Amino acid sequence: MLIIGWVRRPFRPSSLGLRTVLLALPFLVAACSDDGQERRRSLGDTPSFGDFMRVADAQRGGRLFGQCAACHTVRMGAGDRDGPGLYNVIGKPVATNSKRFGYTGALRSLGGVWTPDRLDVWLAAPAKLAPGTSMSFRGLQDPLDRADVITYLQTQTDGGRGAESVPSRQ
Ligand code: HEC
Repeated sequence: MLIIGWVRRPFRPSSLGLRTVLLALPFLVAACSDDGQERRRSLGDTPSFGDFMRVADAQRGGRLFGQCAACHTVRMGAGDRDGPGLYNVIGKPVATNSKRFGYTGALRSLGGVWTPDRLDVWLAAPAKLAPGTSMSFRGLQDPLDRADVITYLQTQTDGGRGAESVPSRQ
């Protein structure tokens, strides 16, 4: 009896360990199935773009970038697809990120620089910002989705998060 008790003890989870696992479970589940509900709730009723950017999640943005990846690469030197390569696009003058890509006049005539704010407007409805653009993408309706994708793009730059120096409001 004594020996069996001694042998079995190491396999019995302590109540503290079990409680830790049970407490961590909801967080683990929330982290795996993050649709942003928690973050959305934390922002109140009328969040600004800056508020969304404050809670943005680059990792989720990377997953959402799957919607862009049919037309865009994002790695350095990965080149163009149906759309221009997007490596290091934040902070660049509009319609210049790829030297080889044939941009439309609609996008070229827009002027300015791709700040996070500008990208937010572009990604919400490309054809609204630049009527006649060849980016045939309906847009991301959800502002948190846009903030996550923009934050992901900020990590795809020289030096990782170098684009943080770009002011988000102009
Ligand atoms: C169906 C293909 C397609 C999809 C999907 C798409 N794009 Fe584009 N994108 C384009 C094309 C084509 C252009 C060039 C538009 C022009 O010249 O008018 C472009 C241009 C851009 C530019 C401007 C680049 C520059 O050099 O100025 C950005 C930024 C951009 N897209 C981001 C995105 C992001 C982020 C997504 C996903 C949320 C996305 N696009 C989805 C095709 C696409």
